[in-house]
Amino acid sequence: MNYLYEIKSIEKIYGQGTGKTVAIKSMDLNIEQGKFTTILGPSGSGKSTLLNLLGALDTPTNGNIFFLEENISKYNRNTLAKFRRDNIGFVFQSYNLLPNLTALENVEFSTEITGLTKDNAKSALDLLGLSNRFNHYPSELSGGEQQRVSIARAIAKKPKVLLCDEPTGALDNKTGVVALKILRDLNKTLGTSILLITHNKEIARMSDTVIKLLNGEIVEVHNISHPISPECIEW
Ligand SMILES: Nc1ncnc2c1ncn2[C@@H]1O[C@H](COP(=O)(O)OP(=O)(O)OP(=O)(O)O)[C@@H](O)[C@H]1O
Ligand SMILES: [Mg+2]
Repeated sequence: MNYLYEIKSIEKIYGQGTGKTVAIKSMDLNIEQGKFTTILGPSGSGKSTLLNLLGALDTPTNGNIFFLEENISKYNRNTLAKFRRDNIGFVFQSYNLLPNLTALENVEFSTEITGLTKDNAKSALDLLGLSNRFNHYPSELSGGEQQRVSIARAIAKKPKVLLCDEPTGALDNKTGVVALKILRDLNKTLGTSILLITHNKEIARMSDTVIKLLNGEIVEVHNISHPISPECIEW
């Protein structure tokens, strides 16, 4: 099978000597294309470290990561940046919007970098139900709207995979469900592969595959044959 990611015996070690932390311990994992995968685990279990490695924000200390059969684990900074630009969309808990740019300008910023037109930015905001918020600054948007702008920014460049680190962590139940529904729809309609970190077991039930981490190791991987609808999630 042609996997999106093949992770082979990776380790991530931060620091040295007495200050050394083994954040990921000899991990093997395959992730299929087009799936919605969630990563569950307590604080400090290595979730963000793993997502950063998959998003080429960092490289493993040992082992190899293949993205569509391309080994990304030995890339230098420039090659990593190009790889991220061409393939990866990021969504974070803190929306990371630029405060002095409007919603549209924030999304255009990402399409400009990737050489796409302004129309891509507009259609991404349309898709997220924000057509009437183009000219609003982040401070003039609700938390849920800001998160939708950040999702629009991530998808405007049509990434192969969307990596989300607790995207609903700062949202209330209602706006969180809206954001999750958008992610689920993107996955279904555009076929974008999604990897989402959460602390919430309920959110994990809407994904196709759940990966549980503990102390830098995978302790469980299970597939869900009938994922629940985001509307059924409460937290
Ligand atoms: N840049 C870094 N330098 C040193 N140690 C780090 C660094 N980043 C993470 N760690 C350590 O690696 C371990 C895993 O951290 P990570 O951020 O991946 O956890 P997490 O599962 O995302 O936790 P949380 O749910 O709190 O976000 C922790 O012990 C953390 O202190
Ligand atoms: Mg984290």
